[in-house]
Amino acid sequence: MSLTTPSTAQSKPDDSIIDASEFDSPGFLQDPHPLYRRLRNHHPVYHDRLHNQWHVTRYWDLVEVFRDEEAFGTRPHSYETDGVLGPTMLSLGGAEHAAQRNLVSDALVGRKLDAFTPIVRDVARSLVEGFADRREVNLTQQFTSQLPIRVIMAMLGLPMEDFALFQRWYRQFMMGMGWADDTRAVALAARAEYEEYMTPFLEVRRRTLGDDLTSRLIREGVPDPAIKTFVSLLLSGGGETTDKAMGNMWWHVLQEPELVARLEADHSLLDAYFSETMRHSPPVHREDRGATRDVELAGVAIPYGAVVRCWLASGNRDDTVFDDPDTFDPFRGDLYS
Ligand code: HEM
Repeated sequence: MSLTTPSTAQSKPDDSIIDASEFDSPGFLQDPHPLYRRLRNHHPVYHDRLHNQWHVTRYWDLVEVFRDEEAFGTRPHSYETDGVLGPTMLSLGGAEHAAQRNLVSDALVGRKLDAFTPIVRDVARSLVEGFADRREVNLTQQFTSQLPIRVIMAMLGLPMEDFALFQRWYRQFMMGMGWADDTRAVALAARAEYEEYMTPFLEVRRRTLGDDLTSRLIREGVPDPAIKTFVSLLLSGGGETTDKAMGNMWWHVLQEPELVARLEADHSLLDAYFSETMRHSPPVHREDRGATRDVELAGVAIPYGAVVRCWLASGNRDDTVFDDPDTFDPFRGDLYS
């Protein structure tokens, strides 16, 4: 008689099988990197039939999507952003996008940004002076969440005494950019309040033009509704991203005394510390594109009209591009590759 002994070894779950509901799970929100890794390894361009979206997770495929504006356009009128802020330039493509961008890009891109350095310094210094004598500080509450909104308000020439209002509006706008009805309702109420505030503000500014970005938009003849949308885009886009990016950087650095010591000795290292934060822990994980025609990516057919989710944070952990990608290391050789 022959006996078969049952195997006691637990069979490993097959990590190539993706359940699209994982994208909605608390585990994914907490730490999306395990799912990104499985997608990169097994389904770099994954058609998620539950949400009817195509997910792109490898570095070079992402580069291909972002470079090919003809096949992968911006998605017109995103419910998430435009639903709260109005039709922003994020949803525009081609000539329309270029026209909006040109209105401000020479003030906001490259060396022209140096003009804002004194504002950034002044705001940063006054915030630090507010807590410099304390033994403990909540860096996100007292610094990272305050600096960007104050700087953007200064750029736009908005009255700094209304900082608390703008900070609340920006938070409510950000929370409303999802699909939940309750936060969306709060965001729309905030939007109405903001519009009511901005109407007389723009009337006065029209009579007292200055050097700020709002005055520049008025001079260029941009209509008031478009200025309101643009200002709210800068507050939301520029505020949230910069706040979280700074917070993430200090979270990494302050846990490593050696990183702190090296930074104290050489402030120019901040560039590498920040770049590595943007690679390892970026504040924006995803950008969406829309297929403007049937197109193939990494051997996968993507149909006209498809929503293409571009997971930037996954591309930054692609081990065919970055060595040991899950480790935060501002001194890595491939940081600027
Ligand atoms: C670490 C900080 C930041 C990150 C990670 C970030 C990220 C992004 C991303 C991913 C996009 C979308 C690009 C696309 O769809 O192709 C974007 C667009 C934009 N961001 Fe930022 N951003 C940051 C800071 C800022 C700041 C400080 C401002 C302004 C004060 C700003 C203003 C804008 C504007 C106006 C756009 C639209 C540009 C366009 O459509 O041409 N961002 N940003």
